[in-house]
Amino acid sequence: MSADGIDINRRRFLTTTASVAGGAGAVATSLPFIATMTPSAKTRAIGAPVEVEIGDLQPGQLRIAQWQGKPVWILRRSDSSLGTIAEQDDVVADPESEREQQPDYAKNEYRSIKPEYLIVLGLCTHLGCSPTYVSRDQASNHNLGSEWKGGFFCPCHGSRFDLAGRVYSGVPAPTNLVVPPHMYLSDTRVLIGDDSGVAS
Ligand code: FES
Repeated sequence: MSADGIDINRRRFLTTTASVAGGAGAVATSLPFIATMTPSAKTRAIGAPVEVEIGDLQPGQLRIAQWQGKPVWILRRSDSSLGTIAEQDDVVADPESEREQQPDYAKNEYRSIKPEYLIVLGLCTHLGCSPTYVSRDQASNHNLGSEWKGGFFCPCHGSRFDLAGRVYSGVPAPTNLVVPPHMYLSDTRVLIGDDSGVAS
């Protein structure tokens, strides 16, 4: 039992453990495990929460997990990149996250439980392409201009999102990226798909 009342051992049994210790872009998956299941068990497992190791993520590094067949991005934001988010308030379409694209606990300046970690579905809210993470230093590779502070660029039709997953005004995507339900099991592990342990 953890300090916040979560029965970690039981949760580990119930959930699909899918952690990796790779670098940027590493995919957390449990497909070999799922392949041995009956069809109904597979269906349950694919929809099950996914536990992801984040203790080795470095500032600026992105990890990609899979939950319910969708990519989930976990980006560790540096202190300096967090400082750029408020600067984008005038140029994003929904700066206060008024639209229902996140749980209440992520309706804040950083759209997250912990400012350090952004956790969003890696699917563009226009037509569902998967955008690319583009750091500030990589802006010229995508013609994003010298004002680019880092964020996500969708190559399909040019939508852009900031480091809080907020969509810029004037692009095809209508809303901010979706924050999935999630909660922290410890300082180094996060559970995607279950937020029953988040204090309301
Ligand atoms: S699907 Fe991303 S801009 Fe159209």
